[in-house]
Amino acid sequence: MKFAIAGAGYIAAIHARAILNNGGEISAVIEKFADKRAEFAVHFKIPHKYETLESALAATQVDALVIGTPNYLHAPQALAVLKAGIPVLVEKPMAMTAEEGVNMLEASLKSDTPLMVAHCWRFDEDVLWLKQQSVRLGRILRTKGYGVHANWGPAGWFTQKALAGGGALADMGIHAIDTARFLLGDPQPLTVYARIGTHYKEFDVDDTGVILIEWDNSVNSYIESGWWQPHMDGPEAATQLYGTLGFGQLFPTRIELPRAGTDEASVIDPGFVFPRTEHCPQHMYDAQMRYFMECVHANRTPLPGGEEGLVNMKIVDAAYRSASSGEVVRISG
Ligand SMILES: NC(=O)c1ccc[n+]([C@@H]2O[C@H](COP(=O)([O-])OP(=O)(O)OC[C@H]3O[C@@H](n4cnc5c(N)ncnc54)[C@H](O)[C@@H]3O)[C@@H](O)[C@H]2O)c1
Repeated sequence: MKFAIAGAGYIAAIHARAILNNGGEISAVIEKFADKRAEFAVHFKIPHKYETLESALAATQVDALVIGTPNYLHAPQALAVLKAGIPVLVEKPMAMTAEEGVNMLEASLKSDTPLMVAHCWRFDEDVLWLKQQSVRLGRILRTKGYGVHANWGPAGWFTQKALAGGGALADMGIHAIDTARFLLGDPQPLTVYARIGTHYKEFDVDDTGVILIEWDNSVNSYIESGWWQPHMDGPEAATQLYGTLGFGQLFPTRIELPRAGTDEASVIDPGFVFPRTEHCPQHMYDAQMRYFMECVHANRTPLPGGEEGLVNMKIVDAAYRSASSGEVVRISG
């Protein structure tokens, strides 16, 4: 399978390795800056390099595009290639707003072309283990999840609203939102209440947020998002599930099943190493890419696809609206 990659930054290198690790070929890189373009092409032995997506589309043919550019480029780049019938793996957040996400989903449906959103935690072995075990927890009543950086935060375009759409919520909170939703079996959100602000640095996006999501299966999810926080209760995507029969959590990953008639619990520990050497391991992205390649090969709608990406965008949009109005925001279908 022949790929083009848009962007030659941090995540693009991870995707490039994932393509090669899965036996794919990288035919073109599209990167705005000549030095980054050249360095990336040499490093990954990519034959063609372009400054713009338009020039790439005019000059070369590929089987799929991976989008790893700043968020404001996700929708225009995805729309351009979906219209040409080229499958897309786009980074999270899928777009700047839910409205852009709707256009991307429509373009994918109209052209019958796979659109996948890189909600990578769905491919993580700890997450998959907890999802499988969650049936033992009874009815899940509530979840807690974290998308937080402690004593660190990104710089550059990530911190500019015009280029990123949102701050820590759109960047990190969305990982926690998607992980909770995945573990719950992809329920639909009904309402969102959020308090969001910028307290640690000077920029026009958020660095601190608490979000409460009510799902249509009666579960409530509490999410924390942040950059530069003085503390975090768990690393990216760490999630806890509170069920009628037990408790489960990610990072460290285990479930606890209270023993009837005692104040003790049976702890089931799968033995995953925590903390990991790399919290976001290459093999998670390799599994994500393998799945995308299978979907492209079979012309199948990926999951997480445009629909899942869009639900997350609706929650993020609703959270920002709730934070500015102080009201609970109802999400319409
Ligand atoms: N899933 C994950 O684990 C994960 C991790 C990091 C980033 N991301 C997402 O990936 C995306 C990129 O993040 P990053 O950390 O790689 O950022 P980055 O800044 O390292 O890379 C972005 C690249 O895009 C290039 N670029 C800018 N304008 C361009 C244009 N018009 N055409 C082509 N290239 C252009 C930049 O020069 C840069 O090289 C973001 O949406 C981010 O949220 C996801």
